[in-house]
Amino acid sequence: MNFNRLAPFYQTLESVCAGKKMHRCRVAFLEALPAAEHVLLLGEGPGRSLLEYGQRFPAARLTCVDGSAAMLDRARRQGRHLSAFRARVHFVHADLENWLPPESRYDLVVTHFFLDCFRREQLPPLIRKIARAARPAANWLVADFQLAASGWKRLRSRLILWGLYQFFRVTTRLPARSLTNPDPFLQAAGFHLVHRKETEWQLLRSDWWQRSSHSPVDVPSPR
Ligand SMILES: C[S@@+](CC[C@H](N)C(=O)[O-])C[C@H]1O[C@@H](n2cnc3c(N)ncnc32)[C@H](O)[C@@H]1O
Repeated sequence: MNFNRLAPFYQTLESVCAGKKMHRCRVAFLEALPAAEHVLLLGEGPGRSLLEYGQRFPAARLTCVDGSAAMLDRARRQGRHLSAFRARVHFVHADLENWLPPESRYDLVVTHFFLDCFRREQLPPLIRKIARAARPAANWLVADFQLAASGWKRLRSRLILWGLYQFFRVTTRLPARSLTNPDPFLQAAGFHLVHRKETEWQLLRSDWWQRSSHSPVDVPSPR
């Protein structure tokens, strides 16, 4: 998997195909979130969320992780005009499957359009790893595509998702061939859904998950 080739065109491609719809999902809960001290942005790509969350939480330290050097370069450039922004952001060029985040550090985790990059069997250990890096009462935001519940919306979302996976497979050699719903793995890691906003006839969702301090942290094996 390598997003380097796509990095120069990624934002333009998104604007042309989806306008502001995906970005609205990224920031859906931004204003409602409680203050965060340590924010972890995973698979951050060109840094759209980094800029928004960096401005929303001016005192927070942000850790921005991506496996693509070209994407990370773009993310680095996002905050260059904001004073002290750079000093607050730690950029990590790493494959999340190999990177070990510090334990119980982050009070806000952001995985926008990222969990959809993984095959079903990759998700449980990945989510378990991320959950371990989160504080006991952490918030976790997930904006992503989804398969609509039924009828023509389901058919429409299935067709669009099929096209998207074909495209990313060719351009980035993405390991996933289809979308896996991460909800059971998030729940098993002790997170519960606080809010969900569905848009685009249920093709897009924005989730706000939260972990209570007494929740279990077991993640089930893939079926
Ligand atoms: C579809 S893009 C989403 C980018 C951004 N989060 C957004 O909201 O548009 C997925 C990003 O995840 C990164 N990525 C995919 N698999 C990864 C992995 N195993 N480790 C680290 N980064 C990964 C890619 O390099 C890419 O920048």
